[in-house]
Amino acid sequence: MELCFATNNQHKLDEVSNRLGHTFSLRTLQDIGCTDELPETSGTISGNSRQKADYVWTHFGMSCFADDSGLEVDALNGEPGVDSAFYSGHRDSEQNIQKVLRNLSDKTNRKARFITVFTLVLHGLNAVLVEHQFEGIIEGQILTEPRGTGGFGYDPIFMPDGYDRTFAEMSMDEKGAISHRALALAKMIAYLKEQAN
Ligand code: IMP
Repeated sequence: MELCFATNNQHKLDEVSNRLGHTFSLRTLQDIGCTDELPETSGTISGNSRQKADYVWTHFGMSCFADDSGLEVDALNGEPGVDSAFYSGHRDSEQNIQKVLRNLSDKTNRKARFITVFTLVLHGLNAVLVEHQFEGIIEGQILTEPRGTGGFGYDPIFMPDGYDRTFAEMSMDEKGAISHRALALAKMIAYLKEQAN
């Protein structure tokens, strides 16, 4: 069965196609001729994830899935949240990190979590359209300064609970085994495999 992953992020594509196996044949936005900027205007992580998947289904008529992620910091009332990519006003991880650290400078509560939501739009065997969302969450703490050079985004300031290293100090495999994205993806893959049987 053909399934489009509504992303242009090669790193995400590799991770997902590795785990999906051969039951589904994965198509990219490029493969289906979609060069449009996908909408992300809903104001929530789950809403943006749904918007992207719905866009591909509506305009290309293909079963597909999309993801959206973000960092939620308790002492900042859930910020940066859906604005994670552009929190400082720029798509710049260093500036985004500095803004989080500045806003947290007088706070003792450093609790935070990464969230990913996958939305799957599946055109079923009997022509029924199913839409499902799968959420992955990893809880942790925001440090007072960045540590480590791996990963991307807010990884250098996020230490998952139960670990003494930030995501940026972990190998890709180590982070990939516990991350919010991996958790959400595992749920979606379990569902897809059930459907295929
Ligand atoms: P996206 O929706 O997966 O593209 O994520 C939006 C933004 O959230 C990214 O640009 C990053 O700033 C942040 N983010 C999402 N996932 C991660 C992660 O695994 N590590 C660090 N930052 C992340």
